[in-house]
Amino acid sequence: MSDKIGEAGKKSAAKRALSYVRDDMTIGLGTGTTAAYFIKYLSEQVDDGLTITGIPTSRATEKMAKKLGIKVLADFNGVIDIDFDGADEVDSSGNLVKGGGGALTREKIIAASSRMFIVMVDDSKLTEGNLSRSKIPVEILPFMYRLTMRKLENMALSCELRKSFTTDNGNYIIDCDFGKISEPAHLESQIKMLPGVVEVGLFVKMASKIIVGSKDSSFELTY
Ligand code: 5RP
Repeated sequence: MSDKIGEAGKKSAAKRALSYVRDDMTIGLGTGTTAAYFIKYLSEQVDDGLTITGIPTSRATEKMAKKLGIKVLADFNGVIDIDFDGADEVDSSGNLVKGGGGALTREKIIAASSRMFIVMVDDSKLTEGNLSRSKIPVEILPFMYRLTMRKLENMALSCELRKSFTTDNGNYIIDCDFGKISEPAHLESQIKMLPGVVEVGLFVKMASKIIVGSKDSSFELTY
């Protein structure tokens, strides 16, 4: 992984998040570069004797975790103790935009079934006030996708089909610009009501804790 701007913050958030992991926990493993740092650090603890079971939020994460020697389950029907994942944007109330990596549906399923949802971000992901900087990813069925996309276009400022991309579920992603989002819960439910929509990358009031990392330090926001 390169040392671009933000990488140090991602690493420090991921390291701090590790302090919440205990022996015998079942934990959600997120998707993206920050989650990948977390999985790498976690695997070092597994090498040192930590026993955990990971529930991956994408095929990429499953592959990475397995390769690093972490036990993962691709199917599960129990309680996930803590889910650890990254985010693309975090507002002042802890609401998130997720899905930059296209794993939003699986990520939301796992986050919604976890006792605690810990989000790890570098400080560039924080937005003062309402969500406004990220396009909102919407996973839709490929069937007649332009009809679903037209409905989204009627709601958004603009929408774009993510080129040459299919999700782990075999679906498409439409990235939509909604400008400043003052009522994320309302927008989330409006989008989810459209036929053809599988999931939307707005995670409203789901995070229990946001761990924010920067080059020299880290801090936590608790909800
Ligand atoms: C993937 C996600 C990621 O958590 C989000 O895109 C942040 O990624 P990164 O840690 O690489 O900045 O939602 O679907």
